[in-house]
Parts: sequence; C-alpha cells; structure tokens
Amino acid sequence: MHNSPELVEKNPALSFKPFSEEYLADPYRVFSLIREAKPVFYDEEIGYWVVSRYADVRECFRDQERFSAAITLDQLKPLAPEALQVLVDSGVVPGSALVNEDPPTHAQRRKRLMVAFTPQRIRATEPRIREFVRGYIDRIVARGSADLVRDLVWDVPALVAFHFTGIPEDEVELCKGFATSYALFNWGYPSQEEQLRLSRKLADYWRYATMHIERLSRNLGDDFISEMIRGHLEDGELFDRNYLVWMMMNFTFAGHETTTAASANMFRALLENRAQWEALVADPSLIPNAVEECLRYSSSVVAWRRTTKVPVEIDGEAIPAGANLLILNGSANHDANEFAQPETLDIRRSNANRNLSFGFGAHLCMGAPVARLEMRIMLEELTARLPHLQLVQPQDFRFSANTSFRGPSSVLVEWDASRNPEPAQAA
Ligand code: HEM
Repeated sequence: MHNSPELVEKNPALSFKPFSEEYLADPYRVFSLIREAKPVFYDEEIGYWVVSRYADVRECFRDQERFSAAITLDQLKPLAPEALQVLVDSGVVPGSALVNEDPPTHAQRRKRLMVAFTPQRIRATEPRIREFVRGYIDRIVARGSADLVRDLVWDVPALVAFHFTGIPEDEVELCKGFATSYALFNWGYPSQEEQLRLSRKLADYWRYATMHIERLSRNLGDDFISEMIRGHLEDGELFDRNYLVWMMMNFTFAGHETTTAASANMFRALLENRAQWEALVADPSLIPNAVEECLRYSSSVVAWRRTTKVPVEIDGEAIPAGANLLILNGSANHDANEFAQPETLDIRRSNANRNLSFGFGAHLCMGAPVARLEMRIMLEELTARLPHLQLVQPQDFRFSANTSFRGPSSVLVEWDASRNPEPAQAA
C-alpha cells in the first residue's frame, strides 16, 4: 500500500523505499506522490537528498558550477572495510571514468573521445546491428513463444557495445555477468557478505579490463578503446593507464546494461498499450518518436547522482555544500509541468525527446545515438516480423534491487507462428 500525499509530506521516506519490491515494481506511483507532496527531501536511510521535479533535476545535471558529478560511480552504500581489503589485495587502483569527472578535465577528455562517436561512425554500424537483430529473430520466429530479454535484448546491445570496445563475441556472457554485479555493487544496498562477494567480482572485472587493454594495445583497431589507447600514447597524462582500465569497465557497462533494460521496458510498454503497438505496425515512420516516448515513459536509468559544491536551495530546501543528491530523472520524465498526461504512453507526443533519461548538459550520454539506433532497429524488425506478438498474461516482472538501473529480467511473449508474415532465415 502507498501512503497518502499528506502522510508523505510529513515523512517522505514513508513512501520512498528504493529497494523494496513494491517500489522496484512501480517507482512511478511513488515519484508522483513525492513530486506533489515533497519534491525535495532528505532520506535518512541512504543519506541522500532526493530531487524529483523536472526543472530541478535538469538544473542538477546542467549546472557544473554548483553540482559535481564526482560521486556518480561511488558505492551508494559505503564499503565495509573487509570488502575494501579485497579490492586492495587484488591490486585494484581507484580511478575516475569520464562520467564522474568535473571541469576542466571532463571536457578535455570527452572532446578527445568523441572522435570515436561521430555520426558517420555510428551510422556505419547500422547494417551490422540489423544483421544481429534479424539473426536473433530468425532463431525464435518459428517457436511461437520467447522471452524477449533472454532471446533478443540481452545479447544485441552487448554485441554492439563490444563492437565499440573491441571485445570478442565469445566473451559476451562473461562481461554480462560482470555488469550485473557492477550495478548491484555501486547502485544497490548489499549486505556486508554480498559486498565481499561483489568486491571479488569487481576485482575479476578489473583484471579482465586490464588484460583487454593489454591485448588491444598490441593490435589497435578502430574501436572506442583503441581510440583511447591512441589518446594515451599521445598524452599519457590526459589518459593514464589506470584511466584506460576504468573507462573500459564503465564504458562496457554503460554501453549495454542500459540499452538492454531500455529495450525490455520499451517492448513491455508497447505491448501493454496494444493500440500503440498496432499503430507502429501500421506506420513504421512513427518508430523513432515511439523510441523517444518509451525512453520517457519507462527509462532504464531512473536515478542519477550529484554532490553539491556550494550551499544551494532547491524548491525551498536549503542544502549544504558537500551533500549527496539522488536526482530522479525517471520522476522528471513524468512531471506534468513538462509532459501533458505523463502517465499515458503516447508515441505521437511532440516533446517526448525532452526526456532526461540520458541526462542533460556536459555529461549527456555519449552513447545516446547508438542506443536510439539499436532500439529503433529492434522495434522495426520485431513489428515487421512478429506484428501479432502478445505479452503472456499474466506474468510477473522482476527488477534488480538498485537505485538507478531499471528493466525487467524477462518479458515473456507468444504468437501464432502460422500467421508469421515472413519465415525464418529470410534475411
Ligand atoms: C538507453 C540506453 C542508455 C541510457 C538510458 C544511458 C544513460 C546515461 C546517463 C544517465 C548518463 C549520465 C549523464 C550525466 O551524468 O549527466 C550516461 C553517460 C554516459 N553513457 Fe549512457 N546511456 C545509455 C546507453 C549508452 C550506450 C549505448 C553507450 C555507449 C555505446 C553509453 C555511454 C555513455 C558514456 C561514455 C557516458 C559518459 C558521458 C560523460 O560523462 O561525458 N551509454 N548515460
């Protein structure tokens, strides 16, 4: 049960339980209560100020003078000494990775790294992505049922991200495993025992990233990590060796976990709103805006973090310097002051692209065009090849217990294979 706005106003933490099953299943109901009753409040349990309205969230992303990104990759729950010792013993050297950097270093590094993300380079990946997607759909079309997470959106974003990082295809499963642990380690609330287990996983991920940098250094390609290694060879201070390892870990994670979850959310949302799915089947030109609307309606990143560099006032709340902020971009995306009828999925919404799912400002997600491309292709191919796809009813959607990354662990679907408009292996 959710509490009323009056009760929430007295004690917002009553409804904000970010690791509870109820919240994980539907944070949007809680977001709307908070936005109305107490849009900014301090949550004692996690030690963060929670910011929920669109204008405030956007400002926290935008203003680098008052808000620092340095906390972005820290463990939300401080690390137990034993877990820290595992990292020290494994030789893990702490470091930053673009997303948690402030000016001026952030801008200098980002500018150099953008070389690997030109629109031409991204466009050039389209045939490859389509081939991956069609290949995965070929494997399921005759079956009549599938789990869209396991059978499509788990692998495709990983293969694409790995194309950008130069990771061989047969290491997909290994890296996917690292990523799952990484999300729980940094953005979850693990017990001390779990922290120990996750620290060991992080150390494995670290060793793997170090090995990958070394093997790629011997044989540079045209991928993002090779570009970074070139940056290191040009200017060893701007990109030192340790930086390459952290970037490798974070980039791999950022590149697929988020897109897997965003695609799973998208298919679920469209199939639950059948008329919207049918509209896309009838008119595929609506697909790019539908992707944007799905990113708004059900973001795969619902919360991000900043710290205050100076004392600030947000929505009348005085927040001291050095405070931790949990900024709810998922909530901002449902703010009625920005989006009319925010709880309705509307693939024709004219301002859907003002969603804050990719952040905003200097740190705006570098991979956003890649993620949009992947989601568009998956939607184009699935609406064309399985237009009669339906969600299995009823089904439970389950979510990982962390503050930020949100996508169901499975999306079960079924269809009548005898009505398929196109057979398997038609590519
Ligand atoms: C739907 C999928 C995705 C979502 C929702 C997402 C979301 C985000 C968010 C919220 C940020 C932080 C913005 C900020 O701090 O202001 C970010 C940063 C970043 N993302 Fe993504 N991301 C996605 C996909 C990707 C992909 C596919 C890649 C790479 C191919 C990628 C690479 C990055 C990088 C490198 C940054 C750091 C940028 C910087 O700090 O300058 N992301 N992303």
